[in-house]
Amino acid sequence: MPYVFYLFYLSYVFYVLLCELCVTKQIIMQTIQLADYHIQIGTIQASLSTFLKQHVFSKIIVLTDENTEKDCLPLLKPTLPIDFQTIMIPAGESFKNLRTCEIVWNALFAAGADRKSLLINLGGGVIGDMGGFCASTFKRGMPFLQIPTTLLSQVDASIGGKLGIDFGNVKNSIGLFGNPKTVLIDPLFLETLSEREVRSGFAELFKHALIHKAKFSIQDLLQAFQGNRANLAPIIGDSLLVKKHFVEKDPFEKGIRKALNFGHTIGHAVESVALETDKPLLHGESIAIGMICEAFLSYQITGLSASDLECIVHTFLNMYPKINLKLFDYEQLIRIMQQDKKNEGTAINFTLLKKIGVSSINHTANAAQIKESLDFYAANCEY
Ligand SMILES: NC(=O)c1ccc[n+]([C@@H]2O[C@H](COP(=O)([O-])OP(=O)(O)OC[C@H]3O[C@@H](n4cnc5c(N)ncnc54)[C@H](O)[C@@H]3O)[C@@H](O)[C@H]2O)c1
Ligand SMILES: [Zn+2]
Repeated sequence: MPYVFYLFYLSYVFYVLLCELCVTKQIIMQTIQLADYHIQIGTIQASLSTFLKQHVFSKIIVLTDENTEKDCLPLLKPTLPIDFQTIMIPAGESFKNLRTCEIVWNALFAAGADRKSLLINLGGGVIGDMGGFCASTFKRGMPFLQIPTTLLSQVDASIGGKLGIDFGNVKNSIGLFGNPKTVLIDPLFLETLSEREVRSGFAELFKHALIHKAKFSIQDLLQAFQGNRANLAPIIGDSLLVKKHFVEKDPFEKGIRKALNFGHTIGHAVESVALETDKPLLHGESIAIGMICEAFLSYQITGLSASDLECIVHTFLNMYPKINLKLFDYEQLIRIMQQDKKNEGTAINFTLLKKIGVSSINHTANAAQIKESLDFYAANCEY
């Protein structure tokens, strides 16, 4: 009789181990290894429980905004220890500032967090950038985990170590470089994201296809946009590999990493000005405008062909809202561009394209050329 019991017991243990192996294989689809941490794409319950089994923390605190608390936190709850705490802040770029940091730091003190506690940043790029900044400066640094929940944050903000907040009306002007313990990406979070937000995230995917030889083309991206969001995992992985290529070669943006800035010099300025109006633009929407203007500068300065320019203009004008740039104060936009951290002296630094898939860093354009590129965008929008 005991033998029969042993046989049963051994088969049960074997069965459990086999299940665990199969499940882990199926649900962690891709691991991207960087120098100091890794990114895992797969089911959040699997990747988070594996992570929590491998580390010990004195406390676990989850930072959410009002939307991710409602839409994303329920997916994590079954995997988190019963005594985890949450900090909830208002959603949106307009709260990515020092005042909200104070709320987070106060809440961390109130929760009794120390340098052995873990802050889980559950949200889009705002939560990731600001939560990472708050964690890195709290008691000179506590560990943090990034769980990006927007497409934009999954393909871009989650990798590269840039953390920070907006100050004055200059985006990301206060911050630092710092790495999370790890980044866990689950495309399932995208199910609750608005179409506008998904569209905005696609702008960074397009950027990656424009600046480097990606595994996907602009056509592939247009097709993927029409498809099921749950199927975006391979494209998210391939896109992260493009960013990894630049980030690993140049972690502190001294050279080649500036390629990732394509569309952002003008895009950030447009985003900053729009933020002050009653019609703020999303990050991706702003950089889509920036990419059209900077493609025009590329046509003039780095020899981008007319057909590549036409393809870029056509793609972005079809995909993103057309903004009446004539209502913007060009001088104000240029003043904001002059504040860009990538500038040296007074010259405004641009990453431009030689052709689709090949970028070229460290170009400058003067005020007249920049205004011409803004006029080019305006002329191509039918008003
Ligand atoms: N660090 C970097 O390298 C880097 C790169 C690119 C962008 N960024 C920054 O990222 C920010 C933009 O990020 P974003 O577009 O993710 O904006 P965001 O964080 O404001 O999120 C957009 C909106 O979606 C909501 N949301 C998030 N996940 C959701 C989900 N799964 N379901 C439903 N709603 C959800 C949020 O509450 C918010 O209202 C900017 O501040 C930008 O500067 C940083
Ligand atoms: Zn961006």
